Amino acid sequence: MNLDRRSLLKFALAGCAGTAVPRLALAQSTGGFFELTAAPGTARLYGKDGGTSGLWLYNGELPGPEIRVKRGDRVKVRFKNELDQATSVHWHGIRIDNAMDGVAGLTQPPVAPGESFDYNFVAPDAGTYWYHAHAMSWNQVPRGLSGPLIVEEDDPVFSPETDITLVLSDWRLDENGVLDTASFGARHDFSHAGRLGNWLTVNGVSLPDIPLKQGHWHRVRLINTSAARILDLAPSRFGAKIIAYDGQAFMDARDVPGTVQLAPAQRMDLVLRPQAAGTLDFEMMTRQPFTFATFQVSGAESDSRPLRLPEVNGLPEPDLESAREVPLVMQGGAMGGMRSLLQDRSENEVRQMMQDGLFWTFNGNPGMQDAPMFTAERGETIVLESRNDTSFAHAMHIHGHHFRVLERNGEPLRHQDWRDTFTTQPRETVKIAFVADNPGKWLIHCHMLGHAASGMRTWFKVG
Ligand code: C2O
Ligand code: CU
Repeated sequence: MNLDRRSLLKFALAGCAGTAVPRLALAQSTGGFFELTAAPGTARLYGKDGGTSGLWLYNGELPGPEIRVKRGDRVKVRFKNELDQATSVHWHGIRIDNAMDGVAGLTQPPVAPGESFDYNFVAPDAGTYWYHAHAMSWNQVPRGLSGPLIVEEDDPVFSPETDITLVLSDWRLDENGVLDTASFGARHDFSHAGRLGNWLTVNGVSLPDIPLKQGHWHRVRLINTSAARILDLAPSRFGAKIIAYDGQAFMDARDVPGTVQLAPAQRMDLVLRPQAAGTLDFEMMTRQPFTFATFQVSGAESDSRPLRLPEVNGLPEPDLESAREVPLVMQGGAMGGMRSLLQDRSENEVRQMMQDGLFWTFNGNPGMQDAPMFTAERGETIVLESRNDTSFAHAMHIHGHHFRVLERNGEPLRHQDWRDTFTTQPRETVKIAFVADNPGKWLIHCHMLGHAASGMRTWFKVG
């Protein structure tokens, strides 16, 4: 199933364009707690001409409500589970207190149907983050259980009208435009590129218009909540520059020509000041660029003030001199990858693994082991060298820490950006570094959620 121009054209012509992108609902707090309830709900993912999909939603909203706090604030969320299966909420990218990380089975017991859980943590860094279900994520996230978490700077540089959050999600729809639920958990998806969809929504709607004010600087926060889809975007084609990845602001606004990948779970903050009234296409760079949203620029008084950038967060700088190197070898998967599993086990064992729905390994191990992949002393710098020995790209996430991406295939990068999720292409080696300063048990996994469920998942311990 491919998200290409041909399969989308019918819908693009169906007249669903013209809906303004919804401003996200803001989470309301009562008694100091934001209320967040997971429950079944519905949405029309493909515009008014499509059918109604049965989804699982936070507070009945798609995406979940935007939780907005200030840097250093304590975030208190009273979470209630009204689904008929257990769940939990993970605060992706937050350097969080381990007990609040929301990993069912590792940092907390799963929240059973009908039960509640109070999350209570400090958000130490400003930027664009998100939250999502973290129990059976492969099943829960692509049914709608995710939402943005925005941490404002002490002195926000963009006004609310020019600070725009856009949640990009891909969906697998059937010919009636309804979410295909029969294929959830398909072995073919898990052992290949993950559950790819054939339709893209922005803040839960199809082909929206995004209003911009001519002559004003805007900050556009992009969040890819897709289960497996790497989005190829080209911000320079509509005059935007990049100012942050995964919540972490750069020192300057970066002009990046060509295509930039936004992998599952990654965020990218853009700035743009449209010079003239009119429309700008927001495209996905497939074989032919596909316009999935349109910026509608309308005249207003220009604002001649120069661009002001958000402050950079003070993350702990890795000490490469004293760093410990840890290898992470990824193997398995279809298209030849299963053969590599025979290095460590017999044919029978590999057959058994596949029967158990495990297709991938990290350092030879399929899925979570009782022992951590490594234990770091608190404050130790870890250099993780990942080698992608598979035929597929992966989006690797480390919980509780941000890291610098140092090298790809032995080449030091010009910008060694901070990230919480990095991409790796087939056969690529990527080196990252971070200070393991956050005590607890932390996951490392592929954010292609079917890959995580079928083996690409491990953990490490700090302190
Ligand atoms: Cu956003 Cu363990 O995940
Ligand atoms: Cu993967």
